[in-house]
Amino acid sequence: MNTFKSLFGWILVLGVLMIPVLCQDEESIITVCQEEDNDFRVDCLLEPKPNYHTDYEFSMSKGQKEIIINTNISGIMPEPRFRHNTFVTELEPYGFRLTIMSFTISENTTFICKVTKIQKTLFVELDSVEPCSAISVFLLGSPWLNLLVPLCILQLWEAI
Ligand SMILES: *[C@@H]1O[C@H](CO)[C@@H](O)[C@H](O)[C@H]1NC(C)=O
Ligand SMILES: *[C@@H]1O[C@H](CO)[C@@H](O)[C@H](O)[C@H]1NC(C)=O
Repeated sequence: MNTFKSLFGWILVLGVLMIPVLCQDEESIITVCQEEDNDFRVDCLLEPKPNYHTDYEFSMSKGQKEIIINTNISGIMPEPRFRHNTFVTELEPYGFRLTIMSFTISENTTFICKVTKIQKTLFVELDSVEPCSAISVFLLGSPWLNLLVPLCILQLWEAI
């Protein structure tokens, strides 16, 4: 009985810790991580506006300068150094994943993602980039997810 109680307690604690992740606050729309083979990944979970021609653009800004990494907006070219070592795949149910091969950030960097003219940014501190495996184990493949979605809704409800 006690074991059951403490297990329940842990589930609650986990749930509370994970609320910000699951409830998709501003920050979690864009996530970055480092893959085992040293590729750098930027996930952008922006939902395209309906009735628009979907396009995407990934860039980063350092100081005043915006550096285009990958886009399929016609007429915009990425920086030469990102022209042949990046690719973008679509995520389900929506969103885009940018992969930069053999890349890691060498200073604090702001990543910008645009989908159908909606723009989000994420400030990434040097040395704060986590391995992708840590993130996917954390989020996916966990039965907690089903349990936590109601918590997320509850939190939203309380916020109103
Ligand atoms: C850009 O990619 C989106 C999603 O794959 C696609 O729907 C759209 O047609 C592409 N735009 C161009 C100009 O290729
Ligand atoms: C990176 O950002 C952090 C947090 O804003 C800051 O404390 C640190 O000084 C920055 N590092 C560099 C090299 O600018």
